[in-house]
Amino acid sequence: MQSTAFLNELRPCGDWRGAVSDYQVEIRDTAERYPCGGEHSLLKAMAALGRKGIPSGCHGGGCGVCKVRITEGEVSTLVMSCTHVTEEEKAQGYVLACRAFPRSDIALEVVGGMRKCITRRRYGFV
Ligand code: FES
Repeated sequence: MQSTAFLNELRPCGDWRGAVSDYQVEIRDTAERYPCGGEHSLLKAMAALGRKGIPSGCHGGGCGVCKVRITEGEVSTLVMSCTHVTEEEKAQGYVLACRAFPRSDIALEVVGGMRKCITRRRYGFV
C-alpha cells in the first residue's frame, strides 16, 4: 500500500460510484481511524461519524480548508480548483478531502492553515 495513484477528474456518474467497500482511513496527525466506503468522500464519511480530524468547510471544493496529503493508498478525485491544489501538489498527493474518494485503505496528513487547530486539539492545548 505504498503507492499513491490518482484517477483525477472523474465524474460522479463514473463506474466507480457503485463501489461499496469500506476502507480504513487513518489521520496521521491525530491517529484517528474511520471507515469510508468508496462512494463517500473522505470528508463526508468522517463528518457522518461525528469525527473532526479533518477541517470541514463548504464540502464542495470551494474553500480549501479540507486540504490533506495522501501518504498511503489510492484515491479518486472530482475536479479540484487549482486555487487550492496545484498540478504539482496533485502529483505529490495533495487533495481536497471533500473531493476525494478512497480506492484502498488510506493514510493522510492534514495540511494548510487549519492543521494547527487539529494538532492542538489532540494534545490538549485548546
Ligand atoms: S470543505 Fe471546502 S473545499 Fe473541502
